[in-house]
Amino acid sequence: MNIKLNLGTTECTAADVCVLATFSKTEKKGKTETSTPVLSGWTKEWKDALNSAGTSKSFTGAKSSQFSFDIKGQRFLALGLGDKKDFDAETLRRVTSKVLQSLKTNKTLSLNLDTFAIKGNLELSASVMTEAAHLALYSFDKYLKVKDSLNIKTITLDSKAKKTEAKKIQKAIKDASMVSESVNVARDYVNEPPNILNSETYAKKVVADCKGIKGVKTKVLGKADLKKHKMGMFLSVNAGSAYAPQLVHLTYTPTKVTKNTKHIAFVGKGLTFDTGGYSLKPGGSMVNMKFDMAGSATVYGAFRAIAMLGLPVKVSCFLGMTDNAVNEHATMPDSIVTAKNGKTVEILNTDAEGRLVLGDVLTYASEFKPDSIIDAATLTGACLIALGTEVCGLMGNDPKLAESLKKAAKAADEYMWELPIIEEWKNDMKSNIADLKNIGGSRWGGTAKAAAFLENFVGEGISWAHLDIAGCGDSQGHLPYCPKKGASGTIIRTLVEYARKS
Ligand code: BES
Ligand code: MN
Ligand code: ZN
Repeated sequence: MNIKLNLGTTECTAADVCVLATFSKTEKKGKTETSTPVLSGWTKEWKDALNSAGTSKSFTGAKSSQFSFDIKGQRFLALGLGDKKDFDAETLRRVTSKVLQSLKTNKTLSLNLDTFAIKGNLELSASVMTEAAHLALYSFDKYLKVKDSLNIKTITLDSKAKKTEAKKIQKAIKDASMVSESVNVARDYVNEPPNILNSETYAKKVVADCKGIKGVKTKVLGKADLKKHKMGMFLSVNAGSAYAPQLVHLTYTPTKVTKNTKHIAFVGKGLTFDTGGYSLKPGGSMVNMKFDMAGSATVYGAFRAIAMLGLPVKVSCFLGMTDNAVNEHATMPDSIVTAKNGKTVEILNTDAEGRLVLGDVLTYASEFKPDSIIDAATLTGACLIALGTEVCGLMGNDPKLAESLKKAAKAADEYMWELPIIEEWKNDMKSNIADLKNIGGSRWGGTAKAAAFLENFVGEGISWAHLDIAGCGDSQGHLPYCPKKGASGTIIRTLVEYARKS
């Protein structure tokens, strides 16, 4: 799909459908409220055509309402944005997503950018609409013989802005495309089934995808390397697997590096499937555990976008890949293993495996002395109980970093809420016969107890934040720019925003 910009025009580029947005104004006369569309930015010809189209009286410009009319054989669609004072980026993202889905059988669309401006900011609107187009029209259909008909080839954004504005708006479109295409790459990885995507094929896919991205270097550590690094926790999760564990280590170095250049490390849980191990999940809970690598796909998506945007930050990205499977070599509950950092861990439940992989990868990441480490993981079912299925859990050891992430989430219009890591929970993760145990004494507070466990593996003095995406990682169908079922790709835009502000 191609998104084009047509500046210096008061016309609509000829297309299958030309979309014009309108706000809605509500007036009170006595007890009755009447809403009417506000046709600002419309040409006289467009206004006359709408007004003379008989049924247009029912069109009020309410959010996501539509009304179609024709002018000289060109089809127009009036699209409601609702009240102007409530109009913001997220409203635009949602409204655009819905309208594009409803028009997806058309080949060419033209959208009048001026009528969609958020407080006169054409760059912002172009960026949000580009995002919506890529995200809302995504579908995972590679295994379907009969695919859903998506015909949109070209979307043209028309504006009367001067051609001198072109560069800025064009850049906004290009940047938003890179970010949203990276979200879709991450979605593809998550949606891929476990018989196709295992640790080895996953690592290869990521390395291949990095080829050609400027400033990016790749390295993959296999089983022998993990043994050399004494990653006893990571290896214990992989013990029952038919595939080698893979620690994918990516670095992005910007063109200009000074002593002030920030170094961010991303760490991601990449469980290509989680059976629970010997602490086997019941059949129903095991379904969809292919998505247990969504944390790694999230940080990879963000890493990819940041590198493609050429942001002036150094980013290291560590993806811990394995499945959690059962065979005669699989780790038995009651086992005690030694982590890379020397701590011993009693494994009381092999289904609490994500923290074992992440723990060793966090220690490894710490050796590169980043300014901050942010990990993302589908870590606990308890996160869905605590925050619902829509909100990303945030925990960590540095209030400043947590604050920046919350700010970034707000700017990206994504939901994030912080949970505390209290002393009691840190203590609850201690074992009588080892330094730590991998589950707490009760299921209460399970999300933050998992974080309390992880904190043991973060290097001294390093700012760290943990994002539990167990809920928001998939099935975010309440968002019109996310598929009903399957990978959501949320939180990637938040991480890119965080890097932009770093
Ligand atoms: N991958 C799961 C967490 C999960 C569960 C994500 C359901 C999304 C939906 C994780 O590895 C796990 O199994 N966690 C256990 C931890 C428990 C054994 C302490 C859980 O949440 O039940
Ligand atoms: Mn598990
Ligand atoms: Zn898991």
